[in-house]
Amino acid sequence: MLARDRLLEGQGAIVTGASSGIGAAIASALAAAGAAVGVNYRSGADAADALVREIRDAGGRAIAIGADVSNEDAVSRMFDAFADAFGRIDIVVANAGLQKDAPAADMTLADWRAVIDVNLTGQFLCAREAIRRFVAQGPSPGSPALGKIICMSSVHEMIPWAGHVNYAASKGGVMLMMKTLAQEVASRKIRVNGVAPGAIRTRINESVWSDPDQAHGLLKLIPYGRIGEPDDVAKAVLWLASDESDYVTGTTLFVDGGMALYPEFRDNG
Ligand code: BGC
Repeated sequence: MLARDRLLEGQGAIVTGASSGIGAAIASALAAAGAAVGVNYRSGADAADALVREIRDAGGRAIAIGADVSNEDAVSRMFDAFADAFGRIDIVVANAGLQKDAPAADMTLADWRAVIDVNLTGQFLCAREAIRRFVAQGPSPGSPALGKIICMSSVHEMIPWAGHVNYAASKGGVMLMMKTLAQEVASRKIRVNGVAPGAIRTRINESVWSDPDQAHGLLKLIPYGRIGEPDDVAKAVLWLASDESDYVTGTTLFVDGGMALYPEFRDNG
C-alpha cells in the first residue's frame, strides 16, 4: 500500500450523519486512510453498527455514536464518547443534513425549523465543539494543523432552488458560517472548508434519479454527464481533511460535475 493511502494515520475523525449516503462513504474513506472514526447517526443505529463492523473487518477503527446534532448537549456527549474511545480528535466532518421540501406558501414553520436546526445550527454546534476541543488538546503530533473542520454544503449554497427555500437558506448559511469560522480560527491553525456536492445518488434525491424522466431532466443540468456517487464526495473530503490541503482554508470545493456552471446557458443567453 502506498504511503499516500494512509493520509490520516493516527488521527481521529467524527463524521455526522454517517449511517448512510455521503456520510457513510466519508466515514469509510477516512477509516481506510488510517483515521479512527466516530460514525454519528440519529435514527440509523443498525446501519451505523453495520458500517462500524465493515470498517473493523477491513482493519480500521470505528465506533457508532448516536446524537442529534441540533441538540447542544448531545453534541458535547458525542465528542466525549469519541474521546473516551480514541482520545484525540483531529477532524470533524459536519455532514448531517436533510430536506423537507414544499412551496414556500405551504411550508410549515416546523419544516423550516427542522431543516435549519440540523443543516445549519447542527453544523455550528459541531464546529464550535470541535474548535473548543482542538484548542484544549493543543498541537497535533501528526499534522501541522491544530484541527480540520469540513462543512457539508451543496451547490444550493449558490444556486437558488424553488420549492426548497429552507434547504437553500441552510446551505447559503453554511457557506458564510464556514468562511467566517475559517477567518476567525486560521491564526490558531484550524482549517475550515466546505464541500458542495451536486446531484449525488443517495436516498435524499432517490425520487429524482430513480425515475427515468426526472433523471433525464437532471442530467441536462450536469455537464459532466453523470450523476455523482458518494465516493466522489468522500475523495474530496479526504483531501480537505489531510495535510495535502494544508494551505487551504475558507474554500468551498464543488463536487458537482459542473452543475454550478450555469449549464442552461450552453445554448442560451
Ligand atoms: C440536494 C439534492 C439535489 C442536489 C442538486 C443537493 O444538495 O440534497 O437533493 O439533487 O443538491 O440539486
